[in-house]
Amino acid sequence: MDKFKILITDHISEEGIKILESSKDVDVCIKSGIEASELKGIIGDYDAIITRSRTEITKDILANSGRLKIIGRAGVGLDNVDIEEASRKNIIVMNAPTGNTIAATELTIALILSAARKIPEAVNSVKKGEWDRKRFLGIQLYEKTLGIIGLGRIGSNLAIRARSFGMKIVAYDPYIKKENATSIGVTLLENLEELLSISDVVTIHTPLTNDTINMITKTEINKMKDGAILVNCARGKIINEDDLCEALVNKKLYAAALDVFSKEPPKNNRLLELENVVTTPHIGANTYEGQKGVAVIIAEQVLNALHGKAYANAVNLPFIKSLLPKIFQLYFELAEKMGKLMAQIIRGRIDEIRVKCVGKIFEEELDSQSDNHLLNYMPLTIASLKGFLEVIMTESVTYMNAPFFAKDRGITIYETKADKHERFTDIIFLLFKTDKEEKLVGGTVLNDEIPRIVVFDKFNLDIVPYGTYLYFRNYDRPGVIGSVGTILGKNNINIAGFGLSREKSGQAVAFVSVDNKLTNGVLEEILNIDGIIEAKIIEF
Ligand code: NAD
Ligand code: MLT
Repeated sequence: MDKFKILITDHISEEGIKILESSKDVDVCIKSGIEASELKGIIGDYDAIITRSRTEITKDILANSGRLKIIGRAGVGLDNVDIEEASRKNIIVMNAPTGNTIAATELTIALILSAARKIPEAVNSVKKGEWDRKRFLGIQLYEKTLGIIGLGRIGSNLAIRARSFGMKIVAYDPYIKKENATSIGVTLLENLEELLSISDVVTIHTPLTNDTINMITKTEINKMKDGAILVNCARGKIINEDDLCEALVNKKLYAAALDVFSKEPPKNNRLLELENVVTTPHIGANTYEGQKGVAVIIAEQVLNALHGKAYANAVNLPFIKSLLPKIFQLYFELAEKMGKLMAQIIRGRIDEIRVKCVGKIFEEELDSQSDNHLLNYMPLTIASLKGFLEVIMTESVTYMNAPFFAKDRGITIYETKADKHERFTDIIFLLFKTDKEEKLVGGTVLNDEIPRIVVFDKFNLDIVPYGTYLYFRNYDRPGVIGSVGTILGKNNINIAGFGLSREKSGQAVAFVSVDNKLTNGVLEEILNIDGIIEAKIIEF
């Protein structure tokens, strides 16, 4: 068998490389510092690529993705990877989010203290032979307010450490629960403005996203306290550097401490000329421990993924079906079948899909919302999208690319949940809206662990969605069902099950499970029966 080929394009720790090389079926090629033009030409020859933040994996680079299956990011930030394009091409994107948390946290503390006490300037001054104690009068952190934007791994670890300085800590993070903040002694604020207006030190720990790019401009800086310190160890583009420069020159801010820049390395950047800017060359993650951490994590994950084993931290497939609890696997299967059913029945161009989970078991399901919502749909939503799209599309649809294909088609997706349903303990509903009609399907899993479709529009049913079905809607009057039976019998089609339901309006629907394949000719005959409104062949 051909060996797996792994390309490493940035410096990663030896420990990670050793893990990769110890796998006998892997060839590792190291090209640290490779330029984009060369990378574009060779990326398709590799099964996996491992990068840090320097290597941009853009749509253009992925144009010739060839055999590439995995993009492994030895670190947290994924702003250098076009995740959407990778997903469309079924390339797994994974990172190593926990490996460098402490390293980045500790650098943030170092930068806050350096800015508050003007340490780098003081060091330079002494080394130049000066002894100017008056010039290096600083501010202390004790009893000051630290405002953390983004209370994730680094933000939280920073909060825990900053408390020992006697600081009051507030945070702004619209995606976390209040309890997560209070449990570590942080007051979670409702809006960014409030944080800016009360903090003596503001520090940023969010990813770079469409929401956070340019999050701090002149407007936000003007809302900050006079003489505050601004720290950025996240990504340069989150702050407007020109506006920051102005605020530092006119002394609106006391100082800024920056590990990251909008363009790295920074060129002709006025911030570098200012005395009240403390800066480092994007070394937040650069400790022996941090680098070993991310390299080992990413090496193990990449090998597991190549070897078909379970792997963590895949950001474009936030779940592995086989690792979901048994009951969710059953609902997952059911949601996919329900999506498939809708694709075969509904008429018109799809505009909207509403996924509703009812019941206590789904309580946690919607809690994973984050900045990149498209990648954070519930597994059940993704399953129903896949089921729906694979019927209507010729391209191969996977759990990974289904949300992106839905986006391409302009489908709006809503996810909701409710506690109770009058008939079932747990039930999921999919409501599909097109430019022509809207249809509802509901499914549940009872104690026998068999997924069932129990609601179809206004009709209550009990069908097990496997195999071939004849679906029809008819006027509820004598003879229609008999005629359908006769046609099926005449065509040697054995009926395995019959799900029938009617409602007040005088219409009925039937799902007839059959043992043999149904042909369009048979369907034609059924459509000609007086009283049949519509009929379809459904393949689950
Ligand atoms: P994390 O995902 O654990 O935390 C990020 C937090 O930001 C989350 O809690 C999220 O809810 C929050 N957030 C997202 N959008 C927000 C918004 N618009 N407003 C407020 N909060 C928002 O990530 P982490 O491990 O703490 O890392 C944070 C970032 O730090 C990374 O994305 C990376 O870009 C950067 N980083 C830099 C270095 C470095 O070398 N300087 C090292 C590691 C990480
Ligand atoms: C990260 O996002 O992990 C950091 O920026 C560190 C790095 O890119 O190496």
